[in-house]
Amino acid sequence: MSEKQSLATTLVHAGRNKRVCRGAVNPVVQRASSLVFENLAQKKEATVNRAKQALFYGRRGTLTHFALQDLMCEMEGGAGCYLYPCGAAAASNAILAFVQSGDNVLMTGAAYEPTQDFCNKILSKMGVTTTYYDPMAGVKIAELVRPNTKVLFLESPSSLTFEVPDVPNIVKAVRKINPEIVIMIDNTWAGGILFKALEHDIDISIQAGTKYLVGHSDVMIGTAVSNARCWDQLRENSYLMGQMVDADTAYTTARGIRSLAVRFKQHTESGIKVAKWLAEQPEVKAVYHPALPSCPGYEFFVRDFTGSAGLFSFELTEKLSREQLSAFMDHFELFTMAYSWGGFESLILYNQPEEIKKIRPNIDRTLTGTLIRLHIGFEDADELIADLKAGFERLKS
Ligand SMILES: Cc1ncc(COP(=O)(O)O)c(C=O)c1O
Repeated sequence: MSEKQSLATTLVHAGRNKRVCRGAVNPVVQRASSLVFENLAQKKEATVNRAKQALFYGRRGTLTHFALQDLMCEMEGGAGCYLYPCGAAAASNAILAFVQSGDNVLMTGAAYEPTQDFCNKILSKMGVTTTYYDPMAGVKIAELVRPNTKVLFLESPSSLTFEVPDVPNIVKAVRKINPEIVIMIDNTWAGGILFKALEHDIDISIQAGTKYLVGHSDVMIGTAVSNARCWDQLRENSYLMGQMVDADTAYTTARGIRSLAVRFKQHTESGIKVAKWLAEQPEVKAVYHPALPSCPGYEFFVRDFTGSAGLFSFELTEKLSREQLSAFMDHFELFTMAYSWGGFESLILYNQPEEIKKIRPNIDRTLTGTLIRLHIGFEDADELIADLKAGFERLKS
């Protein structure tokens, strides 16, 4: 992104040029496996430039992919962007690109559960060890860096419990010990824009584009925007792993990003309104919304982020029984029970404290009440509050 241009403007204009738009304001959807060479000279040129957006073979991308990749790079300030079929593939392939047998990965103990599972079930088979750290460890993370640590993986805020780590100081502490360590972050909550990872000396910003980039809960995609230092290795390893998305998915994602900044404004406003209301309810022990002081790491959020997403959680004063859970969860009119998040719709899910404990290795934080996770979409915030209020009434009766 140019210094002068605002992010909102960049999101509307980036990735659009004559080559990919062909007279329209959106890029063409170029569905192709075979890409035709007019002659031997053209084939040779495409082969030489196959990693530089030459039309070579479908798996290296078409004009539609290039448009999305350029947009992502401008948006996040990267040298290159690899596209994956989902966010989980982006996270696992980004790690895989930089480790080999005997290496160690430093992973946040509050990472999205499948990211932890990838370390525990796949990396372990390859002889790569994982050390889990407390996301609130701050510079103490330095004590965990080993000579064979190759990757530091961050996620901010944490999945489900929403701790906001002191990312800039964690990065500095790790770089001081070994500047070669590849630092990557699951930056999905921030949509790659509320927290500018690469400006904080992070090498790779990963997103489940499935969430905010697409924004309409109908497409799966993963993205990894890399700085120049890591781009070649990330790209070539991911290519060899056969990572790819189809042109329609790339098109839909680019279209979604055009309205990302505008959508975040509404997620910020409505999410904070609902979170503040929840904080005043007697049934609620604490609200874990990064923009509220009750969330661990609130001070880092205020310092490092430019807005907030619609996803947060709150802990109830008690652990709900099965019957209470049914009474609470089964009858919402506006909140839908579903995995995923980042779309226009509001969603609700729950976790019991013991379930959270199981997926929090090396973290000194115990929840006692049921944890409810909300995604606040674009329904009227007061109507969402009324829906939650009715849920609390059901608990009382
Ligand atoms: C923080 C985070 N990262 C990654 C993923 C994985 O994304 P996908 O479902 O597109 O694989 C998710 C999905 O919920 C997520 O919440």
